Amino acid sequence: MIKNLRPLRIAGVGYSVPDAIITNDDLTKLYDTSDEWIYTRTGIKERRVVSGNENAVDLGEKAARNAIAKSGIKIEDIDCVIAAASAPPQLYPALSCNIQTRLGIPNYVPAFDMTAACSGLIYALQVARGLIGAGLYKNILLVASDNNSRLVDWEDRGSSILFGDGAGAFVVTEAEDGVDDILSIDVRADGSLGQYIYMNIPGKNCPLVDPCDETDAKIHMSGRDVYKFVVTTLPNYIDKCIEDAGMTAEDIDYLIPHQANQRIIEAMQQRLNYPDEKVISNIKYYGNTSAASIPIALVEGVEQGKVKLGSTAILCGFGAGMTWGAAVVRLRDGIC
Ligand code: COA
Repeated sequence: MIKNLRPLRIAGVGYSVPDAIITNDDLTKLYDTSDEWIYTRTGIKERRVVSGNENAVDLGEKAARNAIAKSGIKIEDIDCVIAAASAPPQLYPALSCNIQTRLGIPNYVPAFDMTAACSGLIYALQVARGLIGAGLYKNILLVASDNNSRLVDWEDRGSSILFGDGAGAFVVTEAEDGVDDILSIDVRADGSLGQYIYMNIPGKNCPLVDPCDETDAKIHMSGRDVYKFVVTTLPNYIDKCIEDAGMTAEDIDYLIPHQANQRIIEAMQQRLNYPDEKVISNIKYYGNTSAASIPIALVEGVEQGKVKLGSTAILCGFGAGMTWGAAVVRLRDGIC
């Protein structure tokens, strides 16, 4: 950890999911699959999807409002907005700019999106830590929101079974009491594995030059490659983050991982030798909601009494890029 950074406090966390539920049985209307196949390989039973004109901005706005309400920080005091968005409704204006306007955050405050796919929330936390640590900003809103269901290929049964829509938000602030809630954090990328999960933006060259290859705007995924990469990389990596925090796995109360596949979550659980109560999983009901999955799991875990605040957790995520990241954090009372 870099020394002499100003300490960061996680002040509020919130989430939002759409109302429409698509069960595994519903998916059998789209292609040849079964609840049994999907559930045994992924742990997913159902997922939420946006319907009509609802989109990631609507979900992100609600999640942000919930996080801000818990934080006790006034909207007019938010001085930076960062969105982790990989499947937003528009490439620009940025999702963060839309959320700034919807919430009435002062209209001079910087707002930008960053794309680190499902690792986005951890990446955003790392960026916010740098900004707060350097004293550049004081109260930062982080929003992770994606409408994946608009971008998956609903004819591809290998990938569309996995994803759902949702949003999560963190409000982070300079810790007045000097206690840093980030005990360790690290983010990584290996762009040479970009072909494992990708989404092109289709376009055509200027008609006066040779045409480019045509592409679609759909999520393409090599599930088996992703799976192998994650189960061989993440368990060792988590060990390192715990060590960086100067702790052991036993010292940490919860593992709150990105919800991509129940078997991947179990691989991490085994490595940490954690009983089920220490591992927060809600993939069964939401599928993979990208960067939003960690805050959704955290807040829902608190609501359901599975996560007690005044505790510590290891958050870890991975996604297209390939990107990955982990943080050992303090979860103070009252943050959600
Ligand atoms: N229903 C029924 N059969 C299916 C199916 C479905 N929804 N999807 C794929 N199949 C079939 C395939 O066609 C293939 O059949 P074949 O052997 O006759 O060709 C067979 O099942 C095995 O396919 P494969 O893709 O190798 O399955 P898998 O065991 O690797 O499971 C995933 C697929 C997607 C569940 C799994 O690879 C996974 O979860 N990977 C991680 C993906 C991930 O986490 N992505 C997000 C990262 S942020």
